[in-house]
Amino acid sequence: MLGKATAALLGLGTIVQAVAVPQDNASATASARVPNATSGPGRYVPSAADLESGCANIGRVAASFVRTSNAQSATSFQIDSKIAYDCLASIPLEREAALEFLFELSKFVQFQSTITYLARPPANSGQDPMDIVGGITDIYNSVESGSITSWNELETRVDALLSGCHEGHLYVAWPLPSLINFRAPFSLMDLSPDGKQASRVYVADDVRASNSRFQPSAITQIDGEDVITAIERLTYYEASQSPDTRWNAAFQSQNPPKLGSFFARSRYPGANTFTLTFQNGTTTEYRYTAVAFHQPGSNVWSVLTTGQAIWDRIINVDPNARSGSGSGASKLRARALEDLGKRKLNNDQLDETLRRLEKRQSGSNSPPPQSELVRYNASFPDTPRVRPYIQDINQVVGGYFMADYAGDDSRTAIIDITGFAPDDPNGRFPTHAVQAAVELFLAEAQRRNMEQLIIDVRGNGGGFVNMGYDLYKQLFPNSDPYSGNRIRYHPASLRIAQAFTSLVNQDVIDGLIRAIGGGMGENLSATQVNAYQVAAYASLSGLDQFLNLDEDGRRFSSFEDFFGPANIYGDQFTNTLTYDLNNLLAVGDLSYDITGYGDRASFNTRSPPFAPENIILVTDGVCASTCGIFAEFLRNQQRVRTVVVGGRPNGEPSAAVGGTRGAQVIQHTAHMLNFVQIVENNFSPRDNAEREDWDRIFPRPFRLNIAEAAVNWKDNVRRADPTETPLQFYLEAADCRLYYTPQTLTFSHELWAQVDRLAWGNETECAVGSIKNATVVTGDSNGVPISIGSTGSTGFNSGFGDTPQLTGDRIIDTAKFIWYGVRNSLGASGGRRGY
Ligand SMILES: *[C@@H]1O[C@H](CO)[C@@H](O)[C@H](O)[C@H]1NC(C)=O
Ligand SMILES: *[C@@H]1O[C@H](CO)[C@@H](O)[C@H](O)[C@H]1NC(C)=O
Ligand SMILES: *[C@@H]1O[C@H](CO)[C@@H](O)[C@H](O)[C@H]1NC(C)=O
Ligand SMILES: *[C@@H]1O[C@H](CO)[C@@H](O)[C@H](O)[C@H]1NC(C)=O
Ligand SMILES: *[C@@H]1O[C@H](CO)[C@@H](O)[C@H](O)[C@H]1NC(C)=O
Ligand SMILES: *[C@@H]1O[C@H](CO)[C@@H](O)[C@H](O)[C@H]1NC(C)=O
Ligand SMILES: *[C@@H]1O[C@H](CO)[C@@H](O)[C@H](O)[C@H]1NC(C)=O
Repeated sequence: MLGKATAALLGLGTIVQAVAVPQDNASATASARVPNATSGPGRYVPSAADLESGCANIGRVAASFVRTSNAQSATSFQIDSKIAYDCLASIPLEREAALEFLFELSKFVQFQSTITYLARPPANSGQDPMDIVGGITDIYNSVESGSITSWNELETRVDALLSGCHEGHLYVAWPLPSLINFRAPFSLMDLSPDGKQASRVYVADDVRASNSRFQPSAITQIDGEDVITAIERLTYYEASQSPDTRWNAAFQSQNPPKLGSFFARSRYPGANTFTLTFQNGTTTEYRYTAVAFHQPGSNVWSVLTTGQAIWDRIINVDPNARSGSGSGASKLRARALEDLGKRKLNNDQLDETLRRLEKRQSGSNSPPPQSELVRYNASFPDTPRVRPYIQDINQVVGGYFMADYAGDDSRTAIIDITGFAPDDPNGRFPTHAVQAAVELFLAEAQRRNMEQLIIDVRGNGGGFVNMGYDLYKQLFPNSDPYSGNRIRYHPASLRIAQAFTSLVNQDVIDGLIRAIGGGMGENLSATQVNAYQVAAYASLSGLDQFLNLDEDGRRFSSFEDFFGPANIYGDQFTNTLTYDLNNLLAVGDLSYDITGYGDRASFNTRSPPFAPENIILVTDGVCASTCGIFAEFLRNQQRVRTVVVGGRPNGEPSAAVGGTRGAQVIQHTAHMLNFVQIVENNFSPRDNAEREDWDRIFPRPFRLNIAEAAVNWKDNVRRADPTETPLQFYLEAADCRLYYTPQTLTFSHELWAQVDRLAWGNETECAVGSIKNATVVTGDSNGVPISIGSTGSTGFNSGFGDTPQLTGDRIIDTAKFIWYGVRNSLGASGGRRGY
């Protein structure tokens, strides 16, 4: 079972050199609260001689490794953590190239929808203030003045700045974690005897070895520090906004299979050894190891013998230049992108749309009948002990009947969905296959008179947005899903919106839809194929007036009606956007209709297969992106009750949706650069002044070997919320919280059985809260979200008391960067530069 997890080891994002523990008071000493990414207790500092020899020492290990038979297929080999860090720390940077990269990054991060909220987070959000542009300015200054001379340090500091925003859609996919990453000798598990008493932390191997003669002893300290504090610190830089979801990231789990970030470290742990102290009084020292990149059949380390060589051949390599592929540089980039795919942090929708179009001539493009998109009674990777009645061919979703495996007369059905996309980016007809599996499963559930449904979304980091909408519509065919989206105003988004709205206007859309004619684009002319591609980018961007509807599901009456900008929280945004689900270009998936729309409009008259009060959503906090959107539909529109598993052992309420609640990610290279190229291919600047302006506002390619960067592009805002705060900044408690037991951690069906007893059986108490006596799960009586710890009214301010400045106003914030926004929102009293 660990095959899948081991494959995902490279690049799991964790930075561990932290010094301070996050606290709850957002207005207190922020600089002390945000852990310092570049120093920590026990930090190993290599000597000059260590730095000199580190990479050459890896080369020596590689030289013997390539003589083994493993070397033909392995994609990595093990090395000592000391020589690994000696080598990383010896990688220099060249100032001009590094500064140019930081400059480009500073332009791109301004598309992060919540950049102003991050600088001045709403009360009760639990988010530490983070000034992203200010932070990059500081790092830029440090490189310019020569106080940062190490590329590894630059990666680590920028990473800490972005990770401190706890926004899964905001990242840079760096080269170094794919080149070298680190491991502890074992995983940890976080377990409670009954799911209700507070959990304790164990070595996973001990738990597996436990029997009548050996009872594992819990860990009480790591490196002499209280275990809870140490793990909170270890997980501070995890992507999730909920501290309990971050906590869970440290540990091994089975569904989905992962080894946890205590074991898999993308960055140096700060020391080569660590100690654990157990409750039985024993203290033991262990050694970290490291894993180095290997390209099967060759020896890249024969030339990477110095830090300078890694800078020259791996980092300072322009991905767009022909020479950019030497010494594994492009392989590393590919590997970093693969890792993003596994973490569902890309946007598969566009790839799928364009891939469909490319395949249109080959005949392999028409979806097969439902029966070929599903499998019955076959084993499923996330549940080794029990098999689903049905699953899709890509193993995204499994549908179970408890009675099938328990052999009783249970009326409970289960949908297990650990992502809204397949792990394999080349999965076959992913949206069609999941739609078919769910449809056939729900029909069987009705045939068997099932009454209750558990939906298990543990580990679900998102994926195809339309798959999330579809699952909701299959469960509630007669309800319109509402997700109010908006995009941050920026002069570049205005130019892009103007361009897309004129290129892909209503006539173009109508013409394309006629030409596609419900098919797979097989009859499109070359010109129409080009127009379709532009429309696909326009659709993905959300910046075309004609491909969006307003919050009431109506067309926008004018460009201004669509684009705004609206002044909110001292920043500016488009007006609220919703998807036009009847428009196949807006949905962006040829021949696929979301249930209830297009060719599947007739489903609207069906009655829901389960009553909402008979559905329970189970999460481990990791419910992000599309999963967050789906969970919001269930909770806010249907009042479906939620159970969250795991979290810090504090007996307090914990968020059901702890991963990004942003509605869409946009990548720098795969998406934004294409938007810009479409603008520049079709329009010319009026004059030199405008030409210079475009260069200043439009992102340009990175010229270092950075695989990708991304921002959260669209906020999700609840309709009832008068403050229009992004859901990202609300931590909403699950109705019932449980801890894992050895049984429920290892076997999903044991967890489902406990949830079943708590919801419909004779078990009453959760660790916190209750399912049976659930309070209103979502918001106050008007549906306005309430954060955990909030005392009723949300207390959010709707701005900073400043007057938002005019559209297009440009403020030069520093001599280095151009910041588009309202100065006061990032003023001296604003975001701390904690990184
Ligand atoms: C937060 O810190 C501020 C400033 O130190 C203090 O005035 C306030 O009482 C604290 N609030 C809480 C909830 O601890
Ligand atoms: C954080 O790191 C900086 C630079 O290495 C160091 O000067 C500073 O003392 C550190 N801060 C803390 C709180 O350890
Ligand atoms: C204490 O517990 C740890 C962890 O279970 C175990 O490895 C160790 O052997 C135990 N020590 C003694 C003296 O029993
Ligand atoms: C396997 O699935 C089929 C549905 O095609 C069902 O009819 C059959 O009973 C299942 N077999 C078992 C052994 O569960
Ligand atoms: C494509 O063109 C062929 C030949 O004219 C026609 O038979 C077919 O129906 C068209 N397909 C679609 C989807 O319109
Ligand atoms: C709860 O119900 C189960 C069967 O569903 C039964 O075995 C168990 O004894 C019951 N427990 C109590 C305390 O009633
Ligand atoms: C749920 O509420 C009912 C009615 O208020 C009460 O009788 C019952 O004891 C409660 N159950 C739990 C588990 O709190």
